[in-house]
Amino acid sequence: MTTSYDIKGKTALVTGANRGIGKVIVETFLDKGGVKKVYAAVRNLDSAKALTDQYGDRVEAIHIDLAKPETIQQAAQHATDVDIVVNNAGVLKTSTPLDTNVLDSMAYEMDMNVSGLVRMAQAFAPVLKKNGGGALVQLNSLASIKSFAPFATYSASKAAAYSITQALRDLLKEQGTTVVSVHPGPIATDMADAAGIGEIAEPPSIVADSILEALDKGEFHAFPDSMAKQFEDAYQGFAENIVNANLLG
Ligand SMILES: NC(=O)c1ccc[n+]([C@@H]2O[C@H](COP(=O)([O-])OP(=O)(O)OC[C@H]3O[C@@H](n4cnc5c(N)ncnc54)[C@H](OP(=O)(O)O)[C@@H]3O)[C@@H](O)[C@H]2O)c1
Repeated sequence: MTTSYDIKGKTALVTGANRGIGKVIVETFLDKGGVKKVYAAVRNLDSAKALTDQYGDRVEAIHIDLAKPETIQQAAQHATDVDIVVNNAGVLKTSTPLDTNVLDSMAYEMDMNVSGLVRMAQAFAPVLKKNGGGALVQLNSLASIKSFAPFATYSASKAAAYSITQALRDLLKEQGTTVVSVHPGPIATDMADAAGIGEIAEPPSIVADSILEALDKGEFHAFPDSMAKQFEDAYQGFAENIVNANLLG
């Protein structure tokens, strides 16, 4: 368990907000969650136009490119009123350990999916602290828990990101920040198509809804879709007795 967090009236920042799961998180936070404002963090400011057109002042496009760490720093200096950070942006290569390009793919995914999370946490933890604690939501994956051979390097990066998320939960507890680790299965986005799992994918809205639920209930893990729920059933004991347990006294 972590601490329950009410997002109503708060200000959120979502990375990778222009499409896929990120865009639906922005819409859901505004439509169902009652947040006051969302910073839609994108690589190209024009790509947030559909959101700013629809929501007016409630959405502000802001530049974050995980490949350019200075943009993360600049965003944290600008968006000083943020209460909730959703680190959603991520990348996937279909690369296996036996491919010749595997080390390049893995280095890229580790940089975006793991170092990206670390940089976001370092930049925004002080902002969240100043604003009373807030919440940090990390888009991990079922691939954080089980390796899928066709995208093995992505799985490795999401396992590492999950590990870092657990550490952040423990470290940020002291400043009152609620941390949520989200573990979707196949979700209908460009990424799922690229991974070859588009045909069994479920809608992004269930991921966004599961984030609202996890924040509301104060749950560290969110398992949104039907495959994820299958994992959750099997994983529950390990999560409770190991991942969520204080083993160091
Ligand atoms: N879809 C699934 O089945 C699934 C399952 C489990 C977990 N996830 C995770 O959920 C998150 C969102 O996935 P998705 O399916 O919505 O992916 P997606 O459709 O591929 O969209 C990826 C988003 O990340 C942004 N992005 C890519 N590289 C970036 C960078 N260097 N800096 C900042 N933003 C960058 C993209 O921006 P541009 O438009 O500029 O490229 C886009 O907004 C990811 O962390 C993913 O690993 C997805």
